[in-house]
Amino acid sequence: MDRTRLHALLARESAEAERLSPRSRDAYARADHLFGRVPMTWMNKTAGAFPRYLAEARGARVTDIDGHTYIDFCLGDTGAMAGHSPAPVAEAVHRRYAELGGATAMLPTEDAEWVGAELTRRFGLARWSFSLTATDANRWAIRLARAVTGRPKILVNSYCYHGSVDESLIVTGPDGTGVPRPGNVGAPCEVTLTSRVAEFNDLAGLERELAHGDVAAVLMEPALTNIGIVLPEPGYLAGVRELTRRYGALLVNDETHTFSAGPGGCTAAWELAPDLLTIGKAIGGGIPAGAYGLSAELAERLLARTDLDLVDMGGVGGTLAGNALSVAATRATLEHVLTDKAFDRMSRLAERFEAGVRAGVEAHGLPWSVTRLGARTEYRFTAPAPRTGTESAAASDPELEDFLHLYLANRGILLTPFHNMALMCPDTSEQDVDTHTEVFAAALAELAG
Ligand SMILES: Cc1ncc(COP(=O)(O)O)c(C=O)c1O
Repeated sequence: MDRTRLHALLARESAEAERLSPRSRDAYARADHLFGRVPMTWMNKTAGAFPRYLAEARGARVTDIDGHTYIDFCLGDTGAMAGHSPAPVAEAVHRRYAELGGATAMLPTEDAEWVGAELTRRFGLARWSFSLTATDANRWAIRLARAVTGRPKILVNSYCYHGSVDESLIVTGPDGTGVPRPGNVGAPCEVTLTSRVAEFNDLAGLERELAHGDVAAVLMEPALTNIGIVLPEPGYLAGVRELTRRYGALLVNDETHTFSAGPGGCTAAWELAPDLLTIGKAIGGGIPAGAYGLSAELAERLLARTDLDLVDMGGVGGTLAGNALSVAATRATLEHVLTDKAFDRMSRLAERFEAGVRAGVEAHGLPWSVTRLGARTEYRFTAPAPRTGTESAAASDPELEDFLHLYLANRGILLTPFHNMALMCPDTSEQDVDTHTEVFAAALAELAG
């Protein structure tokens, strides 16, 4: 990679982004009352000097306030995997909120049991409870795991992401044991007091940590998705299940992103048998919704514990969790939008996307890898594909990533801002994918000079 050339290309694309987006630039410059000028600080994680401001979004398209319409492969970093505002969800939300009324009345609706049964059909877990975010689903799953096992620690994979969950902000240090993840904001205590860590795909490391006998649960994605996609090697997930059972730790599958693997996520696709499963983002079709599922046996053990305050202020619950609006949106999403048929199509589109990227990479002889998990595709600047989160983190190249993101955005294509992830939704078309292939190839040709 000619870094001087890359630097010049990035400067050119940054200037072009400013030229194309005067209204977004001005809105950002005026946002004096927002912490970091954005509604949420991570919105500053964008290639270029300011984010493009949203005007409208429908299906696989986003339009910004400067009037540019983009093919959206970011899809709210999975929150909009159902596409933006799909009609059945829009109708269900309108009906619940405007016609029937009562978004949040502290009373259950019958939709909740429908959703619980559907989640059981898809993921296998027998009992469900709701949250508004995947972060909260994880927090509550962790509390339940600690309560039922009486053990203090949570084990995660290095460079995982499970939301802003304190226990998860740990990575492996040089000797393979845990150290705080760099940049962790305001940790309540030294993370090694609450957590253990092992590399993904490393059963020996996992066993070494579990052997301490203090791990309540292993919280993991069946494939890492937040440091690029890192797929499990043959036998790894079976080994995790066997070791967690052997050492008395529960297994929590976080399917928030790996839901892209199919209608029942990796858990169904790969016949996994976790004790708990957490999910959020896409299931509400863009309306905040999350859920956690428990095995029947675990649910019974917990409900039998009279010392646990599960109904008041015992630490598991949020006032708006399971509200009628979120549950109605989730039902509509699962019943009509993210259907088995939709997943088939989305996966085929992702295959096409993957083939397009691979062709570009091969044409230029780049040492990059391309990976896919159902409807989600990702490329990393290293080959072969990384086996662990730490290996994948080491392959980061922020300048190159910014150039590619800006080059694509300036030509009407959005990727997720955090890495090179592209996700398909039911409204994505083959033409959308082919447009990406062409623009991506043009970006590589510019890099090659
Ligand atoms: C695997 C996983 N779990 C949990 C979360 C947290 O989701 P949220 O920010 O909606 O709480 C994320 C967010 O990216 C995620 O990727």
